[in-house]
Amino acid sequence: MIMSRFWSPVVHSLSPYVPGEQPKQDGIVKLNTNENPYPPSPGVLAAIASATDRLRLYPDPRASALRETVAAHYGVAPEEVFVGNGSDEVLAHTFQALLKHDAPLLFPDITYSFYPVYCGLYGISYEEVPLDAAMRIEIADYRRPCSAILLPNPNAPTGIGLPRKAIEALVAEHPDRLVVIDEAYVDFGAESAVPLVARHDNLLIVQTLSKSRALAGLRVGFAIGQRPLIDALERVKDSFNSYPLDCLAIAGAVAAITDDAWFQETRQRIMASRQSLIRALSELGFEVLPSVANFVFARHRSHSGADLATRLRQRGVLVRHFQKRRIEDFLRITVGTEEQCSRLLALLHDLV
Ligand SMILES: Cc1ncc(COP(=O)(O)O)c(C=O)c1O
Repeated sequence: MIMSRFWSPVVHSLSPYVPGEQPKQDGIVKLNTNENPYPPSPGVLAAIASATDRLRLYPDPRASALRETVAAHYGVAPEEVFVGNGSDEVLAHTFQALLKHDAPLLFPDITYSFYPVYCGLYGISYEEVPLDAAMRIEIADYRRPCSAILLPNPNAPTGIGLPRKAIEALVAEHPDRLVVIDEAYVDFGAESAVPLVARHDNLLIVQTLSKSRALAGLRVGFAIGQRPLIDALERVKDSFNSYPLDCLAIAGAVAAITDDAWFQETRQRIMASRQSLIRALSELGFEVLPSVANFVFARHRSHSGADLATRLRQRGVLVRHFQKRRIEDFLRITVGTEEQCSRLLALLHDLV
């Protein structure tokens, strides 16, 4: 391992996040990073093209046009919206601005693997709360001393969702603890907790345009919460980078949120493909968790996850496999186009 005496002490202890593979060669069926298989709204490309006139200038540091668009779409005030360079950046600022306290932060043992990475970066203590035997988040298990609670809904990589009523019970039960809900995949069939924000000052919702709006490459995420929470994020952001969103990203994101017809059509297609994929995988002998996301989490009754992932890769199909206790036999498979799903299923048919 490379090291240097010039490193700040914290660098030695970091365990950086490892993103899913982005292959260079063409022709790979990419079902490993939960991207949208369809392109973004054509309006996004037109908006980006016309924004190029402004490349000479710094972008709006407040990204007001985007905050107003998000606010209007979700029925909140622009001051209740924070935007950032992908929801990863929004989450990073959340960890630093709102989740660093004396007691540990709680999140599930099986969840988005960036959470412990941010804890390492910012020196935040945390406890992992085990999912139950059915791989579900059990709200009652979060009744323990903590500084805050962070849950993805639906959870990743399981794809299992929690009803809004359960989130509301959690938020009401912990009025002096911040509850952060990461809704990266919420548009594929889960219930958003955004309507609860008006009633609860301890709730922050984080969303992304990378998945349901097909803009992973543009890097846009946002948070919705009451004003003091948003002000904390703004303070950290303005102590870090005044312009996290460039003018092309702001223009493209506004256009994506505005084109509701495109959004509805593509997400419905993905949800329909997911149900066919779940049925077909079950027929091939997989146990598939009940997903409300744009991916499924499945294990075969007689083949190891690592082995299947390797064999699929050799045949040009990438899926995600995690070498982690409890889930080492699972594959996380992004719902692709109908053709991509058929290719995956044809290969699995020969392999299992
Ligand atoms: C649960 C979850 N949250 C947040 C993100 C980050 O998404 P982005 O930074 O692209 O907005 C991801 C990405 O895969 C995710 O799975």
